[in-house]
Amino acid sequence: MSAPKKLFIKTYGCQMNVYDSERMAEAMGAEGYVTTEVAEDADMVLLNTCHIREKAAEKVYSDLGRLRPLKLAKPDLKIGVAGCVAQAEGEEILKRMPLVDLVVGPQSYHRLPAMAKAAEAGEKTVDTDFPEEDKFDHLPERPKASVRPTAFLTVQEGCDKFCAFCVVPYTRGSEVSRPADRIMSEARGLVGKGVREITLLGQNVNAYHGAGPNGDWTLARLVRELAKVDGLERIRYTTSHPNDMGDDLIAAHGEEPKLMPYLHLPVQSGSDRILKAMNRKHTAEEYLGLIERIRAARPDMMMSGDFIVGFPGETDADFDATMDLIRAVNYGMAYSFKYSARPGTPAAEKTPVAADIADARLQTLQALISEQQRAAQEAMVGREVSVLFEKPGRLPGQMVGKSDYLHAVHVQTDAQPGQIAKVRITKSAPNSLAGEIPGR
Ligand code: SAH
Ligand code: SF4
Ligand code: F3S
Repeated sequence: MSAPKKLFIKTYGCQMNVYDSERMAEAMGAEGYVTTEVAEDADMVLLNTCHIREKAAEKVYSDLGRLRPLKLAKPDLKIGVAGCVAQAEGEEILKRMPLVDLVVGPQSYHRLPAMAKAAEAGEKTVDTDFPEEDKFDHLPERPKASVRPTAFLTVQEGCDKFCAFCVVPYTRGSEVSRPADRIMSEARGLVGKGVREITLLGQNVNAYHGAGPNGDWTLARLVRELAKVDGLERIRYTTSHPNDMGDDLIAAHGEEPKLMPYLHLPVQSGSDRILKAMNRKHTAEEYLGLIERIRAARPDMMMSGDFIVGFPGETDADFDATMDLIRAVNYGMAYSFKYSARPGTPAAEKTPVAADIADARLQTLQALISEQQRAAQEAMVGREVSVLFEKPGRLPGQMVGKSDYLHAVHVQTDAQPGQIAKVRITKSAPNSLAGEIPGR
């Protein structure tokens, strides 16, 4: 038998792309490909791309440019572009980068093996369909061995919200929820392989409404059923939209101990005027009221968010309102971005805020977020939290895991990956915590 072919995948963007890359690797695995960490060794290089901001999209082209010498040295090397840039730009990619052999969108990647075969025969293919068939029905079963105790599981994909700045509704298509029984069996399979924590993924995961045995299940229902799976210890979900945060889901946070007390709930801005222009369809006050209800159900909930500064028309007063909202919420963590005009989105037609003003606002906002993040970490010192160990740390005898609040925690212990232990937090470092197992 000939040596297996090697596949190198580079993943950009969000967690759903991480999940998709795994599934693409598995689909190619069924065709005899093994993954490699070294692009130079690969027979096929696949870039799983992100289109969310201009920088992310342009990075793909510079990375493709850097593959040119490799392709010249190894003419049999096949190069594929997958993900959201593939969806958004399709044929254009082949025109701009003739070294590319195939372009496959996020809803068509079950067709990747066939496209790879065509590439081997010297044929270039582009597939950016939103096919009738469900890709998940055409992907191989997930393999037996798991390397990590945590896993992502896509339950919902696409978005119907059309925020004025965002490409996701165009690149991922409209909202589709996977049937509940498929998710349950995929989850059981993961747990059978040693997975202890599952993060349910969706662009609007809390809008989940998948077909269940007796009518549609909400995300809350799905979480409660998953919580009954023996061996599954932790459940998270991301990303949520404030307007889809149902009462049943809030209640589940108060009642279901396996549902972790960390919630990523992007708001983007604290100004009602900007929220309206963004088409977010809620006010700052409604968002704050929602967080109050969530914290009433689960008082220790660690909040995380996303912010965009410099959205067209954003004034100093609008920006101040965002700073006020951040102070009111007190985030444990947040991501913030300078607005990036994206082709085809309504906001791209509007006059942007001057770059230096947007830069200054981003710095101001990030300083406040860092301060809150540091305070949230320091508040953990002296507390006992549960930690799911994931892998050895850098020091001998050290393990790294995540607390319920998603903080990375370093502990000296002989615990194995996949074990959960009570840990007393002793120290807060810039991006992690240190702790010890009490009574030792
Ligand atoms: N579905 C999620 C987020 C998807 S994109 C939600 O509804 O919140 C992740 C984040 O990227 C967004 O929350 C937003 O903060 C940021 N983002 C999206 N489009 C952007 C753009 N054009 N410019 C800058 N940031 C953007
Ligand atoms: Fe983009 Fe808005 Fe949909 Fe989130 S809700 S993916 S920001 S359009
Ligand atoms: Fe990027 Fe597509 Fe995810 S645009 S953030 S990879 S949904």
